[in-house]
Amino acid sequence: MAEQHRPTFLIRPCFQQDLEQVQLIYAHHVTTGTGTFEHDPPPLAEMEARWTRVVSHGWPFIVASPTRDLTRVLGFAYAQQFREREGYAKTFEDSVYVAPSAMGQGVGKALLQDLLRQLQDDGVREVLGVIGDSANAASIRLHETLGFRRVGVMQNVGRKFNRWLDVVIMQRSLAQS
Ligand SMILES: CC(C)(COP(=O)(O)OP(=O)(O)OC[C@H]1O[C@@H](n2cnc3c(N)ncnc32)[C@H](O)[C@@H]1OP(=O)(O)O)[C@@H](O)C(=O)NCCC(=O)NCCS
Repeated sequence: MAEQHRPTFLIRPCFQQDLEQVQLIYAHHVTTGTGTFEHDPPPLAEMEARWTRVVSHGWPFIVASPTRDLTRVLGFAYAQQFREREGYAKTFEDSVYVAPSAMGQGVGKALLQDLLRQLQDDGVREVLGVIGDSANAASIRLHETLGFRRVGVMQNVGRKFNRWLDVVIMQRSLAQS
């Protein structure tokens, strides 16, 4: 029987030197997919600004790296407060992006799982997945498999590639009642 080669990776914090690869992964999804409604890939300086905003708040920004080469980035995830007003302080939104060559191998699930663990440790109560495109089966399944439930669909609120696109809202409670 042929030996099964499963990629082994670990989840670690995202450092500044990872951002070049983070930018490339995100740029791929901006230019080819509907998971994000950005039309033009943000340059590295803008990705650095986003990363700085997240980490300076103490919010999680993590990457997955192959255990054999910790300088490589297979995917990244971060969380930010859903809206800035004080009342939203315990409600966060997640973002997860995996390199095309690493998709479908459990990287996205491991990233989101780790993000949820960190958010729970930080006392966050509710986590929202705000998913571009109701046809985004991978992201919807990723969230379902980690206990998110679909709480709403905003119809035709985005436009990309000459199509009107829905946004699916999924929610997972971390509250320990
Ligand atoms: C969505 C995304 C992050 C998922 O990451 P991934 O590493 O490919 O997913 P995983 O291999 O960890 O799979 C997670 C779950 O989704 C399922 N899944 C993965 N790809 C799928 C697909 N194309 N269609 C349906 N289900 C899929 C897996 O079977 C798994 O479910 P299971 O635990 O029930 O078996 C990744 O596909 C991606 O980067 N997509 C483009 C960007 C995007 O839309 N990001 C989300 C923005 S909200």
